[in-house]
Formats: sequence, C-alpha cells, structure tokens
Amino acid sequence: MINAIYPGSFDPVTNGHLDVIKRSAGLVDRLIVGVLNNNAKSPLFSVDERVKILQEVTKDLKNVEVKSFSGLLVDFAKENDVHVIIRGLRAVTDFEYELAMAQTNRVINPEVETFFMATSLKYAYLSSSTVKEVAKFGGKLDDLVPPYVIPLIREKYKK
Ligand code: PNS
Repeated sequence: MINAIYPGSFDPVTNGHLDVIKRSAGLVDRLIVGVLNNNAKSPLFSVDERVKILQEVTKDLKNVEVKSFSGLLVDFAKENDVHVIIRGLRAVTDFEYELAMAQTNRVINPEVETFFMATSLKYAYLSSSTVKEVAKFGGKLDDLVPPYVIPLIREKYKK
C-alpha cells in the first residue's frame, strides 16, 4: 500500500496542480493533498477555503483526500503514516529550491522520500502567482484554473 502526500500552498489551485494530483493519484493507493496553513503569508484564500476548493475539484478522485497542515511537512507525513512526498517540477528554475527542500526534509526525517513529477508541458508556465497577477487585471482565467475556481477568484478581486 503506497500512501503519498502532495503538499503545497494552493493559493489558488491551478490546472497544473490538478494535473499532478490526477497523475499521482493514478500511481499510489492513497494521495493526501496537504494544504499549508501558513500564517506568515497573507493568502488570497484562507486555508479552509483552499481545502474546500481542492475537495470540490478532486471530488471524482476516490483515493484523494484533502487536509490542511501547519508546521513541518515531514511531521505531517509521519502523523499520516506517509513516506512519499510528491512535488511537481516545471522547469530548471524550480529545481534548486525543490532539491534543497527535499534534502532538508530528508535530513529531518530520512524515512520520507521526495519524488518529483515532471509537469505536463502545457502547464509548464503556470503558477498560483501568475494566476493572481492575471486575475488582478481582469485577464482570462479559463486555461489556468479549474472552472469552479474562476468565480471565487473574481469575487476576491471585486472586494
Ligand atoms: O506550493 P508551495 O508554496 O511551493 O509549497 C511549499 C510547501 C508547502 C511544500 C513548503 O513550504 C512546506 O513544506 N512547508 C512546511 C514547512 C516545511 O516543512 N518546510 C520544509 C523544510 S525547509
């Protein structure tokens, strides 16, 4: 039985995240999408909103569960009896940060391994920050995020 965690901020979830979630869920028995509750950042969506959005957009994936976490990722993994972390890699620009994070996590808890999944080419440019930038200026979001998320983002920028 392979349990894995796909962690992130998901502020908001993008089509690139969803692609990694779907492909990872096809490889493991149980996938936990771990939503970071980071008080230091001021997110567009609260952690509860992000969890709810992710639950909605993954509702057809029966082996996917969405949970929030705070503190260290490896502690969250241990609490959930998970030894596999999955992270998407878009380009070489992601690599240094991701490698350092994976190595740090391994030093803290050598029982947890990080696996990198190459992002699909069509989402290689996409990030939550890009989505927010486009949304801020009223740009088209159709190819960037799941349809369910679009009105929720629009609502945030209306305020
Ligand atoms: O979507 P993001 O913001 O790139 O995800 C980053 C995330 C949530 C995976 C990372 O910040 C994280 O794991 N934070 C929890 C604290 C932690 O365990 N850090 C790793 C040791 S440096």
